[in-house]
Amino acid sequence: MMLVRPGAPVLGAVREITMLLNPFTQTPAKLGVIGLGYVGLPLAVALAEAYDVVGFDISEARIAELKSGHDRTLEVDPNELKAASRLTLSRDEADLATCNVFIVTVPTPIDAHKRPDLGALISASRTVGRVISKGAVVVYESTVYPGATEEDCVPVIEQVSGLKFNRDFFAGYSPERANPGDRAHRLSTIIKVTAGSTPEAAAFVDALYGAVVTAGTHLASSIRVAEAPR
Ligand SMILES: NC(=O)c1ccc[n+]([C@@H]2O[C@H](COP(=O)([O-])OP(=O)(O)OC[C@H]3O[C@@H](n4cnc5c(N)ncnc54)[C@H](O)[C@@H]3O)[C@@H](O)[C@H]2O)c1
Repeated sequence: MMLVRPGAPVLGAVREITMLLNPFTQTPAKLGVIGLGYVGLPLAVALAEAYDVVGFDISEARIAELKSGHDRTLEVDPNELKAASRLTLSRDEADLATCNVFIVTVPTPIDAHKRPDLGALISASRTVGRVISKGAVVVYESTVYPGATEEDCVPVIEQVSGLKFNRDFFAGYSPERANPGDRAHRLSTIIKVTAGSTPEAAAFVDALYGAVVTAGTHLASSIRVAEAPR
């Protein structure tokens, strides 16, 4: 976790990096962020201040653009992208296999019935199912309806991986509540709601975000509660 020394002035404060262990693997948290759009890219860059992060996207063009140092969404400026030395960009899902935390930030457009279309989420869950190993935690950030994480996404991971939920792997949910283009308010002024599928998973997910979200976190009582719109 990142700690600012008590009494240090805000400008020029000394930041100490403490390694956060995944409690289920007992190894340092290594993150895969899946879907590098308006939400995923700035999140991956921020998390790379504290952790090793693989940023994965299925779009070859998006990965090529980011590797060239340009973010067409203008969420991350070229200097920030260049400075993110712990971020590896890839469209090869094999590069996710060393991760023990996955954060899914793929699009969920509203369908004709005004419900989020879970197509990309299901596809990303299949990707996770192919690369996940025991002890991993899968956190969803995409906007969904209450119940979608545990009822729609987790079963796909179980089916593809053969692993058992809440024994071999765990889930989390942390909604993105910022407005598109509202760069200044992403991680510094909006308290990040977090949740996990077991108390231990919840505490881990909360600590994971707590290291980089300067506005702080709020641990919800369940994934379903965190999924509910507010
Ligand atoms: N944009 C916002 O400010 C905002 C605010 C609140 C909530 N949200 C929610 O956050 C989620 C992400 O939105 P966004 O605006 O970042 O989307 P986006 O369209 O900007 O980016 C999505 C990225 O995911 C990639 N992708 C699609 N399917 C994939 C897959 N199966 N595997 C890997 N990568 C895949 C795309 O190539 C794209 O680069 C959505 O659920 C959205 O509703 C977004």
